[in-house]
Amino acid sequence: MHYKLALIGFGNVARSLARLLIRKQDLLKSQHDVTFSFTGIATGSHGFAVNPDGLDIQKALDLVEGGQSISSLSSTDVKDSLAVINNSQANVMFENSPVNTQTGQPALDHIRQAFDLNMHAITANKGPVVHGYRELTALARSKGKRFGFESTVLGGAPVFSVFREAFPLAELISINGIFNATTNVILTLMENGEAYEDAVKYAQSIGLAETDPTNDVDGWDAAIKVAALVTVLMDTPMTPQQVNPTGIRGITPQMIAKARAEGKRYKLVCSAEKVGDKVTASVSPQLVDSTSPLYGMMNSSTGITFRTDVILDYSITLSEKPGMKGGPVETAYGLFADFVNAVK
Ligand SMILES: NC(=O)c1ccc[n+]([C@@H]2O[C@H](COP(=O)([O-])OP(=O)(O)OC[C@H]3O[C@@H](n4cnc5c(N)ncnc54)[C@H](OP(=O)(O)O)[C@@H]3O)[C@@H](O)[C@H]2O)c1
Repeated sequence: MHYKLALIGFGNVARSLARLLIRKQDLLKSQHDVTFSFTGIATGSHGFAVNPDGLDIQKALDLVEGGQSISSLSSTDVKDSLAVINNSQANVMFENSPVNTQTGQPALDHIRQAFDLNMHAITANKGPVVHGYRELTALARSKGKRFGFESTVLGGAPVFSVFREAFPLAELISINGIFNATTNVILTLMENGEAYEDAVKYAQSIGLAETDPTNDVDGWDAAIKVAALVTVLMDTPMTPQQVNPTGIRGITPQMIAKARAEGKRYKLVCSAEKVGDKVTASVSPQLVDSTSPLYGMMNSSTGITFRTDVILDYSITLSEKPGMKGGPVETAYGLFADFVNAVK
């Protein structure tokens, strides 16, 4: 079958996805008889383009990466993301606009619109998961479509699907892990004697931390991931505000030196525990010693441990990336995996 794809948000992740789809197109055809074309693209400040007969994706990549608008590629005059979704005639909409931790918008509306038009919706954006999981899952089910969000936590490494498919009827008692690579890099560098400000600058220089690192260093990126995991896997709606994170700004070189002398180190620990119907969750810097699986996770490593009522501790680790910036490519793979699982 031929699938028409709409890309809402065409930044690092969506462009990596476009390249990955192109790289895997022969395999998609030979293994699953799936072909595809791109029929809609929306950006924030690089224009909008729609063509139900197929857009020239290479031109779109070149234009955006050259800082130009993609509007010249459009067969119809479209002025916003919803118009792109409406006019794309797509079968699958990929939502990769910037995360909004407070409300999940505008991604929520993009995904609602996609389901209304009988599309699958696949996203790396955590906002709609924490602010609309139950509604969007019900909408998807009513349309016989898939709401895919595998790449929202731990880049594109399978986390939700591992738990949902490989642990039938297991009860999730707790999760524990390191979910934010930027803060782990900063804490690692501080252990090696770097000042906090220099460590932040380094994380920015390798493209890991954003120009405004607040979301990472104050724990909000980690908190929204905890909220997404609790919402989906513990069936308990939770927002990042309820997680109420504490970030790493308060960790001083003196605290780190003292911890080292005691054979311990600071990690930004993410955890959630379910007791009865009640879930408590937190994100905060904690001292861990060498008996903890988190102790050896250095630099940009991230990981999660599930504790269930049947298998006690099951861990997934995403190893340190040499050169550090694996992010968008790995995240794109999560989107790609959701796509293949939706259409195969
Ligand atoms: N980067 C990662 O490794 C990673 C990992 C996990 C999850 N994610 C999530 O994936 C999503 C995309 O991340 P990214 O790294 O690709 O971000 P990005 O590079 O900043 O790209 C965001 C894209 O969204 C566009 N955009 C902005 N406002 C929009 C709107 N209102 N409607 C439609 N498009 C809009 C931007 O256009 P302009 O550039 O023209 O403004 C840009 O094309 C985010 O939700 C992020 O949290 C990213």
